[in-house]
Amino acid sequence: MNVLVTGGAGYIGSHTCVELLESGHDVVVVDNLCNSNAKSLERVEALTGKSVKFYQGDVRDEALLRRIFAENEISSVIHFAGLKAVGESVAQPWRYYDNNLNSTLVLTKVMTDVGVKSIIFSSSATVYSGDNEMPLRETSRTGGCTNPYGWTKYMTEQILSGMAHADPAWSVVLLRYFNPIGAHESGMIGEDPRGVPNNLMPYITQVAVGRREKLSVFGNDYDTPDGTGVRDYIHVVDLAKGHVAAVKYAAEHTGCEVFNLGTGVGYSVLDMVRTFQEVNGVPIPYRIVDRRPGDLPVCYADPGKSAEKLGWKAEKNLRDMCRDSWNWQSRNPMGYGE
Ligand code: NAD
Ligand code: WQD
Repeated sequence: MNVLVTGGAGYIGSHTCVELLESGHDVVVVDNLCNSNAKSLERVEALTGKSVKFYQGDVRDEALLRRIFAENEISSVIHFAGLKAVGESVAQPWRYYDNNLNSTLVLTKVMTDVGVKSIIFSSSATVYSGDNEMPLRETSRTGGCTNPYGWTKYMTEQILSGMAHADPAWSVVLLRYFNPIGAHESGMIGEDPRGVPNNLMPYITQVAVGRREKLSVFGNDYDTPDGTGVRDYIHVVDLAKGHVAAVKYAAEHTGCEVFNLGTGVGYSVLDMVRTFQEVNGVPIPYRIVDRRPGDLPVCYADPGKSAEKLGWKAEKNLRDMCRDSWNWQSRNPMGYGE
């Protein structure tokens, strides 16, 4: 199949391009590079020995999207393009609503016009409300988001599921990711955040490589085994494979379906620090600081529905995630930059 990947130059997008190409699909990418570097796609090509057709531009640019669909026979779209920094979304809500909602609205308008009605969307565990019991199932309560980023994911789910409800020709797959970390085992592609990392693993790897002095652990007084926050970390290559399964699912089913992409296992911040140090033999100095506002104590998935209906299951463990994150960062201390 020929798959259009929006945001394909980004962290999860680039890994998904590799898995799509290796499964025999063709890939067209549209990305405005607002949070990525075109080098990631050159490396995808080097890794797979296959070419990626790249359009540099904004998914909100309707004329560009019409051109892409006219020039390529697209069967399905994976929609990664979006802004994703939670704190930034609180400071710049309009920019987040504009980018994340209008990209989806323009994209699906053009898809409707050209009759391509298969979309896989990057949603997030952040759409679940904070008062659920663990593990989170696809039927757990959603909403009550604590920041504009989370609302954009929630609203996009509403937009896409409403479209599938109104027009039975649509295939919509909403994938709720838990905490993606790790990198391709070659160390050629990986996560390259701009500025100070918001997320735990890129912060750890930047401490390891000497770009940051110390990790701040946000609270050790949660009701968890060691007092630090617990999350469901998933290897980005497993996550990418989940998208290949979702493309197949969308080709075989119409309607709207939601899937968790997680491992079902939770690890604490200190588990992460300990495992990273052990696997890689690199010290991670840290200090305990106050809790980060808005953080949940514990969050992990029930991945049972994905196993049953998508035929997908995460295969890599925490040691693989720590090893591959460090392999990427140590080979590319400044990411894709010089
Ligand atoms: P990323 O920032 O590395 O990738 C997103 C890509 O989209 C970037 O290459 C960026 O340049 C591009 N982009 C953004 N707005 C665009 C626009 N209007 N037009 C064209 N390109 C645009 O982020 P990622 O970690 O790869 O995340 C991919 C998707 O998965 C995002 O939608 C994100 O919200 C979602 N997600 C990520 C996580 C995570 O922890 N990384 C968790 C849950 C969901
Ligand atoms: C993980 C744990 C922190 C950094 C976020 C988004 C979510 C999703 C994934 C997109 C927590 C602790 C972190 C640090 C720390 N993204 N931590 N020191 O908050 O689970 O999820 O990314 O959809 O929407 O909210 O991930 O990696 O930021 O934090 O102690 O410097 O690490 O408190 O317990 P989170 P994270």
